Amino acid sequence: MTNASPFSTSRRDFIELLAVGLTLASVAGPRAFAQTSALSALKIATIGAGREGGALGTLFAKRGHSVLFSSRHPEGLKDLVAAAGPTARAGTVAEAVAFGEVIILAVPYTAVEGIGREFGSALAAKPLIIDVSNPIPARDGRDFVDRIKSEGGPGVVTAKLLNGARVVRGFNAIHYASLEEISHRQGERIGIPIAGDDPAAIDLANRLIRGIGFEPVLIGGLAKGGYLVPGTPLSGEHTAAEIRRIVATLG
Ligand SMILES: NC(=O)c1ccc[n+]([C@@H]2O[C@H](COP(=O)([O-])OP(=O)(O)OC[C@H]3O[C@@H](n4cnc5c(N)ncnc54)[C@H](OP(=O)(O)O)[C@@H]3O)[C@@H](O)[C@H]2O)c1
Repeated sequence: MTNASPFSTSRRDFIELLAVGLTLASVAGPRAFAQTSALSALKIATIGAGREGGALGTLFAKRGHSVLFSSRHPEGLKDLVAAAGPTARAGTVAEAVAFGEVIILAVPYTAVEGIGREFGSALAAKPLIIDVSNPIPARDGRDFVDRIKSEGGPGVVTAKLLNGARVVRGFNAIHYASLEEISHRQGERIGIPIAGDDPAAIDLANRLIRGIGFEPVLIGGLAKGGYLVPGTPLSGEHTAAEIRRIVATLG
């Protein structure tokens, strides 16, 4: 059950959005707060607008945030933008980097290095990068995946490739096709395991994730990011309590 515009949010939702704006102000300074306070919503950009980036960006757009979907071929994103509603639009990756107060990084993991080379310093200035991207043997090759693991795992490596950006891993192993249906679930919400090192970025991620109807669960620092990939016990749909129980069994 999502809201089509910021004007249809409930009082609880409005307070949550306002809190997100205040958190952003605390980490990004008064200029960012001035940009967001009018609608009490954030500018969220996706780098990668395929299955997962498209589904996540749509949830944020329907929640009332301004969303810019980007890819190297933004002309192909018309249907996605139309479905996401009036707060969404499409652009180039450079436009996404310029626009987003929060960035959702949802690309094949092999693309992260090049994105870091081109946009690393701009991304490092953002209060939050949500890193959804995974190194996957079947897609990226076993050697590549082993190299990322030997360099500290995907959380540590993403932050390094993005010039020390405030990275929080999240939504890494939850299927794009279920996201809308399982968000705002009645009763106990679906949990989203997250990993990060920066307290303000984690706080902002928590608020954004709650706003789209999930319960974030911090499993540890970015060094734990390797647990947040498909095929681990944390992948799939779990409640927050189940995630905490699984985390207690991990090394
Ligand atoms: N599918 C899922 O259910 C799911 C769930 C959790 C996490 N993930 C992870 O999310 C990431 C994306 O998966 P996906 O399934 O959404 O893939 P996808 O449908 O193939 O979409 C990939 C997106 O990345 C863009 N892209 C590729 N290379 C790029 C580059 N160098 N610069 C900028 N954009 C680039 C593509 O756009 P252009 O080619 O037009 O540039 C496309 O929009 C992966 O790492 C995956 O492991 C996926």
